[in-house]
Amino acid sequence: MWPGVLPGLPPVHSYPSSCAGPPVPGEPAAATRLRARMTEAVIAGGWAPSPRVQTALREVPRHRFLPEAPLEEAYDDYHYVVTARDSTGAAVSSVSAAWTQADMIEQLQLEPGMVVLEVGSGGYNAELLAHVLGERGRVVTVDVDPRVVDRTKRLCAEAGSGRVTAVLGDGSLGAPAYVPAGGFDGVIITHNAADVAPAWRGQLADGARLVVPLEIGGYARSIALVCRGDVLHAEHWTYCGFVRDRGAAARTAPAVHLADGAVTMRWEDGLPTDADTSELEEALRGPRHEIATGVVLPGEYSFETLQIYAATVLPGFCRLAAPEGSDLVARQDVAAITAEGSLAYFTPIKIHHAPKPADSRHEFYIHAYGPAGPALAERFAACVRDWDEHVREEGYPPMTVHPAGTPDEHLPPGDVLDKPFSRLVFPWPGRTSRQLRQLPSSSRERDLTPGRSRPHRRARRPPGRTFAPQLLLRYAA
Ligand SMILES: C[S@@+](CC[C@H](N)C(=O)[O-])C[C@H]1O[C@@H](n2cnc3c(N)ncnc32)[C@H](O)[C@@H]1O
Repeated sequence: MWPGVLPGLPPVHSYPSSCAGPPVPGEPAAATRLRARMTEAVIAGGWAPSPRVQTALREVPRHRFLPEAPLEEAYDDYHYVVTARDSTGAAVSSVSAAWTQADMIEQLQLEPGMVVLEVGSGGYNAELLAHVLGERGRVVTVDVDPRVVDRTKRLCAEAGSGRVTAVLGDGSLGAPAYVPAGGFDGVIITHNAADVAPAWRGQLADGARLVVPLEIGGYARSIALVCRGDVLHAEHWTYCGFVRDRGAAARTAPAVHLADGAVTMRWEDGLPTDADTSELEEALRGPRHEIATGVVLPGEYSFETLQIYAATVLPGFCRLAAPEGSDLVARQDVAAITAEGSLAYFTPIKIHHAPKPADSRHEFYIHAYGPAGPALAERFAACVRDWDEHVREEGYPPMTVHPAGTPDEHLPPGDVLDKPFSRLVFPWPGRTSRQLRQLPSSSRERDLTPGRSRPHRRARRPPGRTFAPQLLLRYAA
């Protein structure tokens, strides 16, 4: 007989859980334990500093919003769970990763009793929001997919607070029938957005925050933007990736397929007006020009700001995609520039191997093709060196988002990225007025010198994971 086991007692199937956070009546003990583990991992990663978000993670039963998933999967702290796919098998809806949800909710800076709009539904994230907002708070969640809306309504009715309203609609229009007097106290977008829809700003209360996974050069960052009048001010950035927009504002990036389809070039923010891709095929058949930039990064160092920097300061910016092991392009997805029938892209090359990835070293190289390849390579290398000197330690800039049509002279100094509905201004440190892209006329006399005071925005990483410099694109949703 095992010590301590009394003969004749019925077998014990579950044990009281000593985990923090009350169990939801009737739920399996494993759900309580796994939810506590997920919550602790998210907190340990620094994604949920506020007690209100921590309590929401502890108490909202995530598994009830993922009834099809095994408990372990539902409570994985790092991965999203796909809940709908299109006819090609691509994910079109999911319950996002818990760390992303916690981070985005934190960035909204909510208070009890507020009313929040969520674009992209699922149920769990809306219920986290409702928990944070308390009994007087309300959440309106909009999804373009009727299946998702039905599912959200059903799951929220079964396991929710009664304070979430799920609505069918295109989120780029917001939720016009539900805007409270004075506007929503927060708007959170949970799909990748190519642009900032005017309705999100228009339905937001002044001083409130929009948190949106915005694509810049095709790279998504969850950006917390504070609304001040017509202008949104970036306060916080987190590396992320969500499912793409499926509404009226969705767009397909112009792309060309080269080398019998082995290389694809995509201009995620639209084809430059002077783009001529006809000679690129020929360029790729020629020799490859390679230069070292001299910029060396330790293993696991995130260069996510370099992607955004290059996408906003380099004319002709695009992305190159190639299959693994391609002879033409060193990586599957690289940042590139094109001009004059030539192209150049940057790639980190391991120059020092070490048993621990963090101790290895990578140097950025530029590879180029075509007659103007050497000049493009030098231009790209200069960009990488400028980033290294001025941006790498500073982090993201205090970007501002202005309505499309804002005249140049009303924009602050910075590199301007124009989108259909908005003008994004990036006051990167170290840029001189001569270098600025689409320089606003009002700023011609002013240089953006390094050392201007600005909040420090370090790149942050999800909990418990290491990242090699190639920044494998990972999807939070
Ligand atoms: C990552 S899922 C939402 C996850 C959800 N917020 C959660 O974690 O509980 C993204 C959702 O955005 C929706 N979506 C995509 N484009 C949309 C649009 N233009 N308007 C409304 N919903 C959209 C998709 O149908 C999908 O259900």
